[in-house]
Amino acid sequence: MHDRLAFLSLRLSLFAALGLSAVACGSTVENGGQGGQGGAGTGASTSATSSQGGFGGWSGCAGATPVLLADGSDSGYVKCDDGTIHREVAVACDTTIDAPACEGTEPSKSCTTDADCTAKPHGKCIHQDPAFENPEPSCGCVYACANDAECGEDAVCVCPGVVNNGVAWSRCSAVAKCATDADCPSGECGITSFNDGCFQQIGLACRTADDACRVDADCMDGAACAALPYSTTGEPGTFNCETQNCAIGRPLLVAGAARTAPAAARVDWILAEITPDVASLDPAVRRALADAWTEIAALEHASVASFARFTLQLMALGAPPELLFAAQTAAADEVEHARVGYALASRYADRPIGPAKLDLSGVPLETDLRAVLGSLIEEACVGETIGAAEALALAGLVQDPALREVHARIAEDEQRHAELAWKTLRFLLEGADEDTRSFARATFDRAIEASSVDPSFRRAVVAEEVGLLSAKQIGALRRQVLRDVVRPCADALLAPAAAKAVSARLQAC
Ligand SMILES: [Fe+2]
Ligand SMILES: [Fe+2]
Repeated sequence: MHDRLAFLSLRLSLFAALGLSAVACGSTVENGGQGGQGGAGTGASTSATSSQGGFGGWSGCAGATPVLLADGSDSGYVKCDDGTIHREVAVACDTTIDAPACEGTEPSKSCTTDADCTAKPHGKCIHQDPAFENPEPSCGCVYACANDAECGEDAVCVCPGVVNNGVAWSRCSAVAKCATDADCPSGECGITSFNDGCFQQIGLACRTADDACRVDADCMDGAACAALPYSTTGEPGTFNCETQNCAIGRPLLVAGAARTAPAAARVDWILAEITPDVASLDPAVRRALADAWTEIAALEHASVASFARFTLQLMALGAPPELLFAAQTAAADEVEHARVGYALASRYADRPIGPAKLDLSGVPLETDLRAVLGSLIEEACVGETIGAAEALALAGLVQDPALREVHARIAEDEQRHAELAWKTLRFLLEGADEDTRSFARATFDRAIEASSVDPSFRRAVVAEEVGLLSAKQIGALRRQVLRDVVRPCADALLAPAAAKAVSARLQAC
């Protein structure tokens, strides 16, 4: 469904941003743009509809049944009659990673043996062969965990088979406000797994009578009840009705949470020239579009602050003027994206919608090289490259000419932002030691692995012609972009075997 040539052009533009040619990177136009299944996705650009739960009150857990692992042993978790799961006791996890090892002959790889995977304990260099058509096998590091201590503070080790880990082996949770039931006054340390569009987020928190929801059925319009390290609807680390919110554009992350301004009734953010077709829409589709664009607009609005912070980080790291200029221009683009988003939200909702004040308290300004490198790779090199590809796909998919023009305009801007991300990565890695390059490789592996699964949200309305796509379509598109664009670009810059040659080529550029 998406335009494979458009992805090729995206990859070539990013190679150009890195000062490389496709041929120099060991890639060719012929083998680079293999289309997978016909999925296309939107990510947050058409994120699931937003809603707050209609939780009727505290019901607690009844009829608890032990959750058993694949080998029949007790997981330490119990399942209640309503399907919720909580953690009675901590049980150590098997660290076996049941995935094929890297063969060494894969054309694209960031590791060759397990010895290359040292970012965390229990690393394995695996052969990666996506489930759908994949002409370029690759190798990457993945990591398991044995116990909570290996996951650091505020996280626990979750064995496979308890909830959807996104992978077939044990992994650390994204957040854990409790470790076992004994930590909670209610006696219930609940666990949820939710794909927010970027990552499979496993969260543990004490169930309370004040939770916005207990199960998905308490939420409306396809939202899911989840405990996340951030929340767009309630207190982080509590149970709230969540929707996919990993947006086109760079999120303003504060302590792992995407900070956005609440919606307000105002007209000054509405671009007059944005007039989508609303008359022919079914009321449910129109409501879904209003909710989706309200969320997208808030995230685009917050991207302005994110680029402002990025500019300060660039200055602290001695960036050249062209990167500063591009960062400032990107911030201006995001103002326009927010105006377009609020205009669409207002038209679909038939009432004025704009941003209220953005709370900037506690916004960190990290200027350490690794901190900047880590967030640049996860949010920008992976996140904005996916965002650019999704907008490209949507521009070729939606039927309404006004909507098509919006997606085309956003796609063009987001491609520039993705180029800025990769150029910045190249700048940050200039003269970097092997430790730093290895950190960057491990961060790419983690981000690519986390972004490769289908989003777990349930969309109330799927309507391709207006850009409301299913989780499966979005997942397919993301895997294609990660395989055809992100991985080749990362390997061109970071693959150990190619490092010397690439570095020589970069110097020649
Ligand atoms: Fe944007
Ligand atoms: Fe952007």
